[in-house]
Amino acid sequence: MEERIGQVRAGDVVRVLDYGAGTGLASIELTKACHERGVVPRLAERGATFELHLVDLPGGWFAQGYQLLRDVPWTRFHALREPGGGPFRPLREVLGGRQVDAVVANMVFHLLAEKVMRRAATSIAEVLRPGGLLTFSAPDLADRQADSVLFHDANRLVRGRWLAALDTADPASLAPVLREAVASVRQSLRADAQRRADRRILPTPMHSEAVAAALTPFFVGGIERRTYELLAEECLLTALVPANQQEYFAEITDRPLREAVIRHLMLDLVLPELMRGPAGTAHGVNVEWKLGRFTRRPD
Ligand SMILES: C[S@@+](CC[C@H](N)C(=O)[O-])C[C@H]1O[C@@H](n2cnc3c(N)ncnc32)[C@H](O)[C@@H]1O
Repeated sequence: MEERIGQVRAGDVVRVLDYGAGTGLASIELTKACHERGVVPRLAERGATFELHLVDLPGGWFAQGYQLLRDVPWTRFHALREPGGGPFRPLREVLGGRQVDAVVANMVFHLLAEKVMRRAATSIAEVLRPGGLLTFSAPDLADRQADSVLFHDANRLVRGRWLAALDTADPASLAPVLREAVASVRQSLRADAQRRADRRILPTPMHSEAVAAALTPFFVGGIERRTYELLAEECLLTALVPANQQEYFAEITDRPLREAVIRHLMLDLVLPELMRGPAGTAHGVNVEWKLGRFTRRPD
């Protein structure tokens, strides 16, 4: 950003794109940094302006991001597709042909299957100016060091335990809460619930090399590994986020029962197992993040 500010000319618009902005976490941090460094007044001194473009699929999270950031004068919001479905709109269409100077994708790429990631890389490359920067963070990309886990490993283990309970030949051996939940499941819902779960969290995490391969035709750069502690309580809270639990355990339609099952499996079985293992810490687990920094190469 500092380098770009040094280069601006009167009439320029410096644009940053927050890809998969969701509730606006990355944009809020960016907005704070812009305030601290006086980015907007410094650009104004040179006759230039700043815009922060937030894009995402329409939905509850993005609606919350809109509520939080709509009063910031330099934010702009764009949906990647029509509410209710329809095809993805490429970013060049979403941005009306405008180019951006930098793209941030915070906690997004690990959610994308390989084909979707390739489409995202192409779409981002089409709007990022040559020399522009793409940075991303992703906590659930394989592989990982032996002394860490990926962000969704605990959720995958909880789901594995739940499916094992659903298919057990001996329901009487289950904990009471599981027995009640298993008895409540309509078998006809199971295939659809599995599809929803697989869309929410990839059953097998994407590999960071697949992300790099999707970016390589357009970008130069690299991905580094960083490990941060995730508290046990945060693991549980992530699983209990309403949009997550509803999609990841759709077999259980009653919310209090679903939450009781998640609490039991996470707190009594999965977290103790992970915390006893090499990734365990006193209060949680070490999660390996992948941090990417890539520059758009000229066409
Ligand atoms: C874990 S949230 C992260 C949100 C935000 N970036 C943050 O840092 O809090 C992942 C976001 O990626 C969005 N997303 C999922 N698939 C996407 C895609 N194909 N293209 C763009 N965004 C996508 C979701 O809608 C969601 O808002």
